[in-house]
Amino acid sequence: MNRKRVLVLGDLPGDGLARLQAGCSVTVRKQGVGSEDELASLVPGYHGLLTLLTQRVGDAVFAAGTDLRIVANCAVGVDNIDLAAAARHDVVVTNTPDVLTDDTADLTWALILALMRGVVSGDRLTRRGEFNGWQPMMLLGRSLRGSVLGVIGAGRIGQAVLTRAPAFGVATLYHQRRPLPPQVEAALNTEWRSLPDLLAQSQVISLHASLNDSSFHLLDEPRLRSMQEGSFLVNTARGPLIDELALAKVLQEGYLAGAGLDVYEREPRIVPELMAMENVVLLPHIGSATWETRVRMADCCFDDLVTLLVHNKVPDRSVVDPTEESPFSEVRK
Ligand code: DGY
Repeated sequence: MNRKRVLVLGDLPGDGLARLQAGCSVTVRKQGVGSEDELASLVPGYHGLLTLLTQRVGDAVFAAGTDLRIVANCAVGVDNIDLAAAARHDVVVTNTPDVLTDDTADLTWALILALMRGVVSGDRLTRRGEFNGWQPMMLLGRSLRGSVLGVIGAGRIGQAVLTRAPAFGVATLYHQRRPLPPQVEAALNTEWRSLPDLLAQSQVISLHASLNDSSFHLLDEPRLRSMQEGSFLVNTARGPLIDELALAKVLQEGYLAGAGLDVYEREPRIVPELMAMENVVLLPHIGSATWETRVRMADCCFDDLVTLLVHNKVPDRSVVDPTEESPFSEVRK
């Protein structure tokens, strides 16, 4: 049998690798690859590539990988992949939607709670030995109940974030280019707003948009300043949605009350000013980081590689329309 060759970048949990190895000849580079050029030099002769969101897969890779038939991206976001180049070279791209929705929504609420209730700063204070007993004015946060959460991007993850809001007594609004169908809005107990209205009417803004040309720096300095004074900003989507330097500036001035970030503009580098701020909670891109979800994400990738390379079928998870998950193509116009 002529076994297809697959290059796997990264160390993934679960038994999916064994299933792939049963049908294909697999090379695993646990440490990943450095640059896009290095990947381009490695990819000739491979029919499949399993890649991580940290690896840029651009035209150089597709041009070099003349045997390449599928790239399985171990992430829901596909902003690291040049989808137009993939289409030009007739390469199928798959991602891992659905399986990480709940965990990412949960982490979003963890950041909201951490910011509004001083969870991280309280931990730091206690460890510094500064907890000297209950005090009426110590670490006063803000009540969740009665506040308004504005969700930007009501796709799968944004909707899962909205679903959790009633448990905390939080009212919600959302923005995306196309409003949700009325019955979905009713089920989520939420209302559409234009972006300026959403920013002006929310005490917490949470980003759940995909990253593309039209959503880059969606929250630039003027938009950050059009948020309510004293409000909070949370980002578990993609770092470049926010102008990180501008965010540091408005936080330093005390215009915003705090920010909770799981993703960064130039990941893994972080604007140094943010590192020094007590009212900023910084996480290392762990939205989907649970055993259960990471196994499911890996399974999606391994199964899609097997579907195409062993069974010769196009996987259901193929990313067909690059703009399907990007509700912001008109936002900045
Ligand atoms: C994704 O899948 O895009 C997430 O950012 C992973 O944590």
